[in-house]
Amino acid sequence: MIKVSAAAKILKAGGVVSFPTETVYGLGARADCDSGIREIYRLKGRPSFNPLILHGDSFEMLEEVVDIPPHYRQVLYAFWPGPLTAVFAKKNKSSVSKLATAGLSTVAVRIPQHPLALELLKAVGSPLVAPSANISGSMSPTQAVHVQSCFPDVPVLDGGACTVGLESTIIDLTGEVPQLLRPGGVSLEDLETAFKTSFQVRDPGTELPVTAPGQLKRHYAPDQPVRLNAGAKHAGEIWIGFGDVSGADLNLSPQGDLSEAAQNLFQTLRQAESFGVSIAVSSVPNHGIGAAINDRLQRASVPKGEGCE
Ligand code: TXA
Ligand code: MG
Repeated sequence: MIKVSAAAKILKAGGVVSFPTETVYGLGARADCDSGIREIYRLKGRPSFNPLILHGDSFEMLEEVVDIPPHYRQVLYAFWPGPLTAVFAKKNKSSVSKLATAGLSTVAVRIPQHPLALELLKAVGSPLVAPSANISGSMSPTQAVHVQSCFPDVPVLDGGACTVGLESTIIDLTGEVPQLLRPGGVSLEDLETAFKTSFQVRDPGTELPVTAPGQLKRHYAPDQPVRLNAGAKHAGEIWIGFGDVSGADLNLSPQGDLSEAAQNLFQTLRQAESFGVSIAVSSVPNHGIGAAINDRLQRASVPKGEGCE
């Protein structure tokens, strides 16, 4: 475990550090640094066609890299810092590494809310790319120990357990109609209210062409099979409940609180995984952040061998 000043020093020198955000822990490198970014792809085993999210501490820092259309500024002020990522056109003269954007002409950017992430960005003084700090296709880390057990050689800035617990919502603001690419910490309902328009929603079952990356099918997956919408436990399973269910071994939120369930999701899946048996999960309401929980659960339930991110 390291301090912000030490983490900033490593990043400035082109290295990789894991840092906390309000959503999940990220594996960070400077956005203009090919060597650090190459190391991130290597560590994660991530395909080079899958671009990274760029993090800034302010609109000013993000605008070194992307053009934010003026009519979107005001509404984005309401969400940033926070668990929302927006895709914009890349500035012609931006210094962001082509490795980070996988050669695309767009960049996904966000301002994270965690105080240590903001402190780190200020100390480095330039944008950081950070995918979730897990091996591609496996569950995202919501505590420093999750990162340490996955990447023992990567220095980690410990900011405690992540409060949101699943990744940022990703929206594409490059077209005429805003598009939801990944459900996450900000709900579609809140976005549509704030943007005063309906979003185009990509069917989570469809895979995007390689030129417009997003998520592939199997992801966020424990080692064992996951069975969804379980109303009871089958023999030999471990059962993750939601709300007032009796007989569940673990529970995402006994009160049926969706924010609490999101916060507990990956940690609970990890706990269930440690039993080494098949995992059953209760149904979770699909509104608000429940849509993001169900997206992750659905991807976790895709059998091994089907494309993973
Ligand atoms: O909450 C989060 O967003 C976390 C924390 C660390 O900030 N990061 C995260 O990064 O979830 P990652 O790499 O695990 O997921 C990034 C997603 C990928 O699905 C990628 O394809 C998509 O963002 N993405 C990145 N750049 C894009 C772009 N220009 N257009 C469309 N999708 C993009
Ligand atoms: Mg990820």
